[in-house]
Amino acid sequence: MTNRSKSQPNDKMALRLDFSHMMSDFVGPDRGITRQEIDDLIPRTSAIAADIEAKREAGDLGFYQLPYDMEAAAAATDMAGRFQGKCDDLVVLGIGGSALGGTALFRALCHPLHNLLSKSERGGKPRVFILDNVDPATVGSFLDFVDLEKTVFNVITKSGSTAETLSQFLIIRQLLTDKIGRESVKEHLVVTTGAGGQLRQLAEQEGYPLLSIPETVGGRFSVLSPVGLFPAALFGVDIAELLAGARYMDDRCRTDQLWQNPAYLAGALHYLADVKKGLSIAIMMPYSDALIQVGYWFRQLWAESLGKAINNSGETVNVGPTPVVASGVTDQHSQLQLYSEGPFNKLITFLLVENPDQSLTIPRHLEPREGISYLGGHDLEELMQIEAQSTQLALTKAGRSNMSLILPQTNAFTIGQLFFLLEVQTVFAGGLYGINPMDQPGVEASKQYIYGMLGRSGFEDKAREAKKWRDRGGRYTI
Ligand code: PA5
Repeated sequence: MTNRSKSQPNDKMALRLDFSHMMSDFVGPDRGITRQEIDDLIPRTSAIAADIEAKREAGDLGFYQLPYDMEAAAAATDMAGRFQGKCDDLVVLGIGGSALGGTALFRALCHPLHNLLSKSERGGKPRVFILDNVDPATVGSFLDFVDLEKTVFNVITKSGSTAETLSQFLIIRQLLTDKIGRESVKEHLVVTTGAGGQLRQLAEQEGYPLLSIPETVGGRFSVLSPVGLFPAALFGVDIAELLAGARYMDDRCRTDQLWQNPAYLAGALHYLADVKKGLSIAIMMPYSDALIQVGYWFRQLWAESLGKAINNSGETVNVGPTPVVASGVTDQHSQLQLYSEGPFNKLITFLLVENPDQSLTIPRHLEPREGISYLGGHDLEELMQIEAQSTQLALTKAGRSNMSLILPQTNAFTIGQLFFLLEVQTVFAGGLYGINPMDQPGVEASKQYIYGMLGRSGFEDKAREAKKWRDRGGRYTI
């Protein structure tokens, strides 16, 4: 572990965590956290950090390695190069961790209207569609719309066995085969998957281009693997900068000094807020449309990693804060009333961008008009920042804990930092809750019923259980 003291060339792009409005001197002794409460976690921090470091060194926490995996980055870049300029559309087929990271990257780092721009305005990059559901109304309409011959489909599934993704894949593969012939399907399909699983075997047999997800990287921690890197390289993200941002954050977070480690500190504040202050709802509220999908990516990361029935000692604990995404400023006019006057059970994390790329000046009204003219001469960037500050002020005054993650700008380097910070925060929080943040038994349980109900062999007991359950249901319907 290192202690980072020297200033680095990228420090002006460093993310900052402002947790003043979590502290008791701002929100009062009942809801606020004291320095002492943070200090009390220091002995546990040393033990958890040592455990994380040991697992990291043993290669068990594969996401830590991704920012340094230049081979995987090169494979993703080469694969993108193979399709660059040859397709109008990129369609990602995947769900959960196989879709949310790519969606967050697309929304954060591409033009807000990317898909509506002409191909030359997009710099020759494809339009991007991420199909992360199996609703036939959406999938069917999408297939009517897309030109298969000008599309590359990226099928992403770590396990290679997720029913939703495989179903989409089988439909697309059939359509492509019918349209362009079996041999040409590989010119329109890239498979990103783990080492095991049926999909890998099939892809190898049929010669589909393949990218590998390391076995020790869980789905929701995979955004910096080929899962996120290949689509991002194809839609024009500087993936070298993205990984550099993650390495920069790793450097900041590789210390067991709680007060110096932004990810550990954020994890500790969330944990204390939940366990000691009853703030069990963790709201992420970006004041930037570009970051809203980072909120959804984090929602999965936080929920699946920390929501656990059993702790590491085998006891039933049923822990886990409930993550929620809200959009600044829009949800000031939808959720803020509840956040400021409802139950004291919420912790709000604002995602703020210090220097947005664009602004728009509000014109001055020619004749002075009460209630209107004051806006003239201000700009939308300023308005957005003032709205965020007013919300923070109002919430803090009402004793509502909130903190801010501040990005100097939205670019690949800061987004790489943000992903990595939130991943490390999650693993550390898992240590404080005493649970395994890397598994997802609840998701697997539902997957098994899906297999059973759809007739997959080996899951007959699940099919029988599901039948009994269905036969019992419906008793209290009106
Ligand atoms: O984080 C996880 O492991 C899950 O949410 C998965 O990402 C999700 O279930 C999809 O799994 P797969 O990538 O195996 O299709």
